[in-house]
Amino acid sequence: MRDLAPRRGDLDSIETASRDEISALQLARLKQTLRHAYDNVAHTRAKFDAAGVHPDDCRTLADLAKFPFTTKTDLRDTYPFGMFAVPQERIARIHASSGTTGKPTVVGYTKGDLDVWSDLMARSIRAAGGRAGMKVHVAYGYGLFTGGLGAHYGAERLGCTVIPVSGGMTERQVQLIHDFRPEIVMVTPSYMLAILDEFRREKLDPRDCSLQVGIFGAEPWTNAMRLEIEQSFDMHAVDIYGLSEVMGPGVSCECVETKDGPVVWEDHFYPEVIDPDTGAVLPDGSPGELVFTSLTKEAMPVIRYRTRDLTRLLPGTARSMRRMERITGRSDDMIILRGVNVFPSQIEEQILKCDGLSPHFQLELHKHERMDAVTVVVEARPHASDEAERELAAHDLAHHVKSVIGVTVGVRVVDPGAVERSQGKARRIVDLRPKH
Ligand code: DLL
Repeated sequence: MRDLAPRRGDLDSIETASRDEISALQLARLKQTLRHAYDNVAHTRAKFDAAGVHPDDCRTLADLAKFPFTTKTDLRDTYPFGMFAVPQERIARIHASSGTTGKPTVVGYTKGDLDVWSDLMARSIRAAGGRAGMKVHVAYGYGLFTGGLGAHYGAERLGCTVIPVSGGMTERQVQLIHDFRPEIVMVTPSYMLAILDEFRREKLDPRDCSLQVGIFGAEPWTNAMRLEIEQSFDMHAVDIYGLSEVMGPGVSCECVETKDGPVVWEDHFYPEVIDPDTGAVLPDGSPGELVFTSLTKEAMPVIRYRTRDLTRLLPGTARSMRRMERITGRSDDMIILRGVNVFPSQIEEQILKCDGLSPHFQLELHKHERMDAVTVVVEARPHASDEAERELAAHDLAHHVKSVIGVTVGVRVVDPGAVERSQGKARRIVDLRPKH
């Protein structure tokens, strides 16, 4: 793999600024944001008033803890445009996330917001090893989902050549990568695996293809999966994080030279980690729920938005800004088995330790004697075709899960291709429990 670390001189000056400079900028922007949200969003004003706080109460960054959280419920209650802080004529674009139940979550951007987003995505792609002049194959979905257009405008901003493929039609994805020879691919890690399978089906060696970097996000994935993809394609695999409510992709991104967790672009987003049960702010390094406050958003400022994503904040390494540890999982996707919390990503890690198993898997949740139980449904690797090998792999996986995570799971090894393929975010949990 090539050394693609950007030169220090090519970075934005704030990426290497002192902590004091970063904090001073954050405080100034935080005060403006609280004021902007209070003055222009009736829902936020009512919440601040009910909590007995006012934007003037924010004198230090720590004062933010006095302000109420924003949750998905606030966005649902004000559906569709009630959280917007500018008149509709100033909204240049709308995105929405589908949400598994009920109404979508709607977000809006001014021209200025779109500009900042493009800048931060350009910064993210550069951190991942991208440069002006490289070709970028974008296989994140285009549309209301923020992945496609977010990646698209960021790559353009950096001066790359964009190939706006969107998700789906896997054979065509492979053909375009083969023929157009992009250096970068931007796609969910689970869909990259489907693309990898297609390379192999067509008897093309993925290591011979032009790709040098994959910028993967929108769903949890593990370091074990990073190795799998890096070795299969002989390219760097870098983690990008974001969410629609806060902006979209590019809230944080890993640096190719360290690959030690996404760097939060702290000049635009103020991160906190809280205890999900009490709401108390935890010191850096402690695991908990990630909370973001936007520092520059015009159309839809968010104050202390609870992401439900679980991680920890870590000190800066390749940049001065803090990093977040790769997301372990969402609190929504957490399964509790006899008192032990289990995330799909932990199972993924164990699957990749087993020779005969591929990383295509789902977790079936069912009831067994009134207790929740899980069956891991996982595909065999094409070479592990006979029954004895599969049985051995199933036994191996159950054993790893028991000894590392501490829970008992059932394992069903199925034929290659039998697990539902995603073209975007993979569905990892299939809930088969009776509904009451
Ligand atoms: O998924 C934005 C995005 C697009 C990020 C492309 C990265 C790349 P939403 O659809 O609103 O936005 O979903 C946001 O996806 O709260 C996390 O639970 C999850 N997620 C996003 N990136 C990562 C990641 C986009 N790198 C939700 N690792 C977030 C783990 C991620 N989970």
